[in-house]
Parts: sequence; C-alpha cells; structure tokens
Amino acid sequence: MPVLAGLTLLIVAGLLVLQFVGSAGSSATSVDFAIGDEGQIERGQYLASAGNCSSCHTTASGEFMAGGLAFETPFGTIYSTNITPDPDTGIGNWTGQEFLDSMRHGVRPNGEHLYPVFPYTAFTQVTDEDIAALYVYLKSIPAVQQAATENDVSFPFNMRSLMGVWKAMFFEAGEYVADDSQSHEWNRGAYLVDALAHCSACHSPRNILGAEDPDRAMAGGAYVDRVRSGAMRSWVAPNLTSAPRGLSLWPAEEVAAYLKTGRNTFLETFGPMNEVIMNSTRHLSDADIEAMVVYLKDLPPHELAAGARPEDTVMGRGRTIYNLHCGTCHLPTGLGASDMGPRLNAGSLVVQAEDPASMINVILYGPELPDSGLPPKWRNPMDEFQYLLDDDEVAAVASYIRNSWDNEAGRVTADQVSRQR
Ligand code: HEC
Ligand code: HEC
Ligand code: HEC
Repeated sequence: MPVLAGLTLLIVAGLLVLQFVGSAGSSATSVDFAIGDEGQIERGQYLASAGNCSSCHTTASGEFMAGGLAFETPFGTIYSTNITPDPDTGIGNWTGQEFLDSMRHGVRPNGEHLYPVFPYTAFTQVTDEDIAALYVYLKSIPAVQQAATENDVSFPFNMRSLMGVWKAMFFEAGEYVADDSQSHEWNRGAYLVDALAHCSACHSPRNILGAEDPDRAMAGGAYVDRVRSGAMRSWVAPNLTSAPRGLSLWPAEEVAAYLKTGRNTFLETFGPMNEVIMNSTRHLSDADIEAMVVYLKDLPPHELAAGARPEDTVMGRGRTIYNLHCGTCHLPTGLGASDMGPRLNAGSLVVQAEDPASMINVILYGPELPDSGLPPKWRNPMDEFQYLLDDDEVAAVASYIRNSWDNEAGRVTADQVSRQR
C-alpha cells in the first residue's frame, strides 16, 4: 500500500523538518504590475495560453477561469480555484506580490500552502516580468462570483501545513536560469517547456509522495484523467526524451506540426493531449514552437526497459484480431493511411510506451479527437472495442501491435487490460 508507506514517511519527515520550516516563502519583487496596460494584458494572455491555465481553471460548462475542475490524486480529490478578479471568491483582492508568491512559492496570501496539482513546481521558474503580465491579464477578465468546491483529501494530506514539509523535501523555488552553453533558442524552448507549459507534470514519473523524479525527467509519467466514455482511468504520458521509443520516433518537423495543429503525418492527437494542444500550444508563435522543439529534441535519452516478448500463440491470435478489426484503417503493415487511420508502426509514442495504459484506453473506449476547427482528417472514426473484445483479446492485439514491424515494446497482459476497464 504505497500511500500508507508514503504517509508514514511524510509524518516522520514532518516531525524532523517542521521545526526548521520557517515562513511559507515570499520573494519581494520590484517589477511594475501596471494594471490595465493593454500591452501587458496581451502579453499576459499569451503567457496564460502557454501555461494552459484555462484547461485546469475552467470546467466544461463553467465560466472562464472560475475553477471547480476536479483532480483525482492518490491522496484525494482536489478542485481548482477561482482565479477571476472577483474580490470575494477569486483573486480580486490579491496584490501583485501575493500572486507572485502563489506562482513562485505555492502559497496563498494567508500563508496556506497550495497543493502541487497546481503546477507551481514548474511555474516557480517563470520570470517576475511574466508573472506580472499574467496578473495584469487575469485582472482584466470578467469577474465571476463562485466559491471553490471543498477538497476531499484524506488525513494527513488534508493538513495544508504538511505541504510545507513536502516542499522542504521536494521543492526548490526560483526563476529559470539560462544555460549559457546553449543557444538563445534552446533556452527559450527550455523556459517554455519546463516553466510555463509544464510538460513534465504529466510526462515525468512521480514518487509515492507525488514528487517528480528528477533522474527520470520526461521519461514517462502516469496519472488519472478522463477517457472518452467520461470515466476516470489511469493514463500514461509517454517518454519524451530522445530514446528510440521516445521522441526520436518523430523528426523535428513532425513534433512541431503536432504541437502547432494537433496533427502530423503519423497521427492526430487524442485524449488528454487534446487540451494541451487546443488550449495551449497551438496558440504559440511559430518561433516559440520551434524553440520548444529544439529543446525537446535535445533531451538526453532515457531508455525504457525492454519488454518481455509475447509467446507465438499470443502473437498469432493478436494478428488475427488485428487483421479482422484494425487492419482496414491502420493497414496490415501498421503504416496507416493519411485519411483512414494513424501509423502504429514506429509512429506512435503511445504504442511504444513502457506501460500500455493509454494504448489500452484507446482500444477500449476509442480515441477522443479534438474539436480543432480543421476539416476532419479521418473518413471514419475508430469505434470503442470494450464490448466487442474481452481482456485476453485486447491484450493479444495490443501485444501484437507493440511487437510487430519495427515496434519492440513488450507484451500486454489481460490483467493490465482489466485494470483499465
Ligand atoms: C494542472 C492543472 C492546473 C494548471 C495548468 C494551472 N492551475 Fe492554478 N490551480 C490548480 C489547482 C488544482 C489549484 C488549487 C490548489 C490547492 O487547492 O491547493 C490551483 C490554484 C491556483 C492559484 C491559487 C488560488 C487560490 O485561491 O489559492 C492560483 C493563483 C493559480 N492556480 C493560478 C494559475 C495560473 C495563473 C495558471 C496558468 C499559468 C494556472 N493556475 C494553471 C490547477 C492548475
Ligand atoms: C495533462 C497532462 C499532460 C501534459 C501537461 C502534457 N502531456 Fe503530452 N501526453 C499526455 C498523455 C496522457 C499522453 C498519451 C495520450 C494522449 O496522446 O493524449 C500524451 C502524449 C504525448 C505525445 C505522444 C502522442 C502520441 O500519440 O504518440 C507527445 C509527443 C506529447 N504528449 C508531448 C507533450 C508536450 C511537448 C507537452 C508540453 C507542451 C505535453 N505533452 C504536455 C499528457 C500530458
Ligand atoms: C475505422 C478506422 C479504424 C479502425 C477499424 C481502428 N482504428 Fe485505431 N485509430 C483510428 C483513428 C481515426 C484514430 C485516431 C487518430 C489518432 O490517434 O491519430 C485511431 C487511433 C488509434 C491508436 C492511437 C494511436 C496514436 O498514438 O495516436 C491506437 C493504438 C489504435 N488506434 C489501435 C487500434 C486497434 C488495436 C484497432 C483494432 C482493435 C483499431 N485501432 C481499429 C482509426 C481506426
């Protein structure tokens, strides 16, 4: 029971560390917040896109930035808050300095610690100037009166003071520091990817206390999110390092096209990446996308463990299911066709991921495609297979795809499928 072990660890560490933890943290800034300045508002809006604030702070039927979206964590359900300028329920009464402290240190004006579901572990690196522009922009959007939903977090994680201990253990506050040995473009990309776009919040593995593992940064992470049926399931965000089964599967221009439009010559986005692309990266300038790609393509490779090769009987069964149910669109070669289905042979990071959870989600529930405003890419949607195929069959076809052609991702078990049902 990892959560229980984590709990014990946190309490022990808490007793040791609490006495040394002083104030919650503040960095006095001399930056000018210039409320109402049109240029600042516009800059702040662009930065809010880069940080994807709206995806987390706006519910499907709710008002813009008024909060209320639920996040399921191993420690309980945490709701995003209202960040409109309403004085009672939003951040209308916050000073610029107080807003800066929330982004840089994860603290509220009253000194309470925030949970890192709010990715201040990444936002801490945003510059004072950019935080000021974000503040000025948020001050300019319509105020909405809507109190935050009460969190449902288990003891002791419901004690916000303990987050001070968590921070002492896992969090270092501070602006992004440029790496002088790299180009200006590389540094701009690093700043966007790591500080604002917080790709690592999903794409890095976390320890039992929910902190990102710096040694395996961007090598693939797991968390709970919505599948097409609306249910909440475990997802895996694949390895974005330049490992053979990671981002080295895609040339730079394919990465750029994916982030800019949600499509490249291999595939189209589906699932949790839809919001990242539609609400965030597609609004960025070409120069900023190029910079992100330069940095992403330069991430040092983190090789994935070689998977166990499935038995021949499983491969045979998988091939039959594939040819019957999948091959018309993805083609028997796995190379896909530009209007029928995406490439599964050495084209999808999701297919090649160490943990097949996301691939199983697509097969069971079907891929949820974005509302991109572009003409549809595919002639027919892919169905859900949850009622047509049982766990063994899904495991066989997933194993077949992951170990055919140029793919070498290892077998999938019926247990792994049943966990995603
Ligand atoms: C991955 C989801 C996510 C993203 C992205 C995100 N937030 Fe949040 N944010 C949250 C959650 C959840 C909370 C509540 C945390 C808590 O209760 O401790 C929160 C809290 C906050 C708070 C503290 C509000 C309060 O009432 O204490 C501020 C300020 C804030 N977010 C601003 C932003 C801004 C600005 C951006 C974009 C640059 C942003 N957030 C992006 C999820 C997110
Ligand atoms: C909210 C969590 C989250 C964030 C933030 C996030 N990703 Fe993802 N990403 C996922 C998940 C889950 C998948 C696998 C399922 C899917 O494609 O939606 C994925 C898949 C991908 C893929 C592979 C797509 C495929 O079909 O093979 C790429 C490339 C990618 N993400 C890049 C990025 C980049 C770059 C960023 C930062 C700009 C980012 N992601 C931010 C969750 C996230
Ligand atoms: C009617 C055509 C069609 C059929 C049949 C079909 N698919 Fe798909 N498949 C698609 C489309 C369209 C997408 C969504 C676009 C995308 O993901 O790039 C998709 C997405 C996928 C993905 C995600 C790839 C990625 O990373 O983007 C996987 C994995 C997949 N299909 C596997 C299967 C399997 C396994 C079967 C058979 C059990 C199957 N598909 C049957 C059309 C089809």
